[in-house]
Amino acid sequence: MLIDPKFLELFIKVTEKAAIGASRFIGKNDKIAADKGAVDPMRKELNKINMEGTVVIGEGEMDEAPMLYIGERLGTLNGPKFDIAVDPLEGTKFTANNLPNAFSVLAVANKGDLLSAPDTYMEKIVIGDNLPKNLLDIDNGVEKNIKILSEAKNKKISDLKICVLKRPRHDKIVQILNDMKVKINYITDGDIAGALSVIGKNPKNDMYYSTGGGPEGVLAAAALSCFGGQIQGRLVLNKEEEIRAKKLGITDFLKKYNTDDMIKGDVIFCATGVTNGDLANGVKDLGNEYKVTTFALHKSKKVNKVVTNIYNK
Ligand code: FBP
Repeated sequence: MLIDPKFLELFIKVTEKAAIGASRFIGKNDKIAADKGAVDPMRKELNKINMEGTVVIGEGEMDEAPMLYIGERLGTLNGPKFDIAVDPLEGTKFTANNLPNAFSVLAVANKGDLLSAPDTYMEKIVIGDNLPKNLLDIDNGVEKNIKILSEAKNKKISDLKICVLKRPRHDKIVQILNDMKVKINYITDGDIAGALSVIGKNPKNDMYYSTGGGPEGVLAAAALSCFGGQIQGRLVLNKEEEIRAKKLGITDFLKKYNTDDMIKGDVIFCATGVTNGDLANGVKDLGNEYKVTTFALHKSKKVNKVVTNIYNK
């Protein structure tokens, strides 16, 4: 079943309102307030939509998040059944410190089409389009994956650009990439944008290779699926997290999720900039109005656009 295109504008409004809410906290050194600034309006807007929505990726599980928790029902409950993945503020640190690449983001699919993942880490490898399906495998290890990608892209290993989230847990990956003379582009946070840096006409990177948030992995998969990009992810779970994962229906804790395992069928993806970034410009305070910019995708309609709107204060 395809998602009615009329929903795109409604979901764009959701991330726009969330981004405006978060923008009030740009540079204020308060991650929690910035996140809440996005969560409240996002939830309010989602509840206006004629749909039976269920949060499958949210601010946490029911017992730990007061709002937009996994399982929360959203919308007027009168309309199509959707699964919704939200990250009201991707880049809480970026917002708190007035740095680029913070945005409000969601993905919407028909019920049952989006993976519900707990808020835990996920190992991820991400590549762009026009490559053989399931080309890479986390279990190959870094060296083998780089060699396979270099062959498939017909590019010298030293010409490959790999995006890595700068964290001590990635020291081993970085060491291998350095030994192979691969070019590394680091990001300090925000691995949805990192994952999406492999798509587009002139992608910044050939691959994203890191462990980041599981929810961010599913959101990235939703967008990647609109471009024929590929992600493979595996949740990283400690014992307590295994129990949480089980509650969401995950029984194979070592499962490697390919793009199709995270998102099936049609999808809408919207990301509205809070601060200026690779996907969209940030919220601009024009005095009496806000100018907002959203990167919007609707897979079945082949919509890939950047939309700018103005809101009165
Ligand atoms: P928040 O904006 O929710 O804080 O997430 C930022 C982020 O960089 C994600 O993009 C990434 O997936 C995750 O944090 C990485 O987590 P950690 O900072 O614990 O390594």
